[in-house]
Amino acid sequence: MEPSIYEFPDIFRRVHMEQPGEIERETDFMRSVWRRHMKRPVRRVLDIAAGNSPHGQILAQAGIAVAGVDRSPTMIAAGRRESQGIDRITFYRRRIENFRLSEPLFDAAFFMSETFPVMTRNDDLMSHFKSVARLLRVGGLYCVDIDRHDGVELLRERKLWRSRKVRIGRTRVSVREYHRPIAWHEAMHSIYELECTIKFPDRTVVTRDFIPVRYIIPPLMELAACASGCFEMIAAYSDLSFTTPIEQCYGRWMAVLRRTKS
Ligand SMILES: C[S@@+](CC[C@H](N)C(=O)[O-])C[C@H]1O[C@@H](n2cnc3c(N)ncnc32)[C@H](O)[C@@H]1O
Repeated sequence: MEPSIYEFPDIFRRVHMEQPGEIERETDFMRSVWRRHMKRPVRRVLDIAAGNSPHGQILAQAGIAVAGVDRSPTMIAAGRRESQGIDRITFYRRRIENFRLSEPLFDAAFFMSETFPVMTRNDDLMSHFKSVARLLRVGGLYCVDIDRHDGVELLRERKLWRSRKVRIGRTRVSVREYHRPIAWHEAMHSIYELECTIKFPDRTVVTRDFIPVRYIIPPLMELAACASGCFEMIAAYSDLSFTTPIEQCYGRWMAVLRRTKS
């Protein structure tokens, strides 16, 4: 099996076209969401699919205790390396679909970088919400960022979507992104295939990731949260703004869920 791009933490951010300052802007916006919707201060947060937890590292430096969960040992190792000297951040290797931690309750949780839609099965979605809810105070917020999903296209064959080249120091990466066929009855927007040919100075590695993307728009998120019995959706914000209407969302939106009494 070909390796995953997440085995190369320093490269994946550039491949995903992350812009300078993006993580800082996302973290600032999340903090303004907390101020807007929560009465008590946020002292402990849970970062879901944290990777190396770039948002968590910023929050921990600001004095907030952070726990990150992720399944990738390489991403977690990168997070531990990068956060040496910050004593308020802890990483756990867990699958997001169903997990438990021996931690006191958190004030807030977040799931950034558009990964929430990988949970395509209803069972996984419900057990995920229950896993987060077990760790969150009643009234605590769960912020989830989601890509804007335009109409579902049913493909018959794998189709090249985009390709580009990225340079990271002496390493060159050819990125090819494909859409793969989905069945009409799947709750999916697409299956995204990411192929990266990484040319290091001394070797070449090809990574391949298959990322199923569940079709998630605000009313469906509201319904899923409600079906979990432990969350309600209280807001949906476009493009890190409190004023851009959801109809004018350009790239991403953030669902703000509140932990209810269950
Ligand atoms: C795009 S990265 C985002 C990392 C981080 N939140 C950020 O903003 O940089 C997605 C992360 O999700 C993790 N991931 C994907 N599916 C997962 C699953 N089923 N369980 C746990 N982690 C998962 C990957 O290992 C990866 O670190």
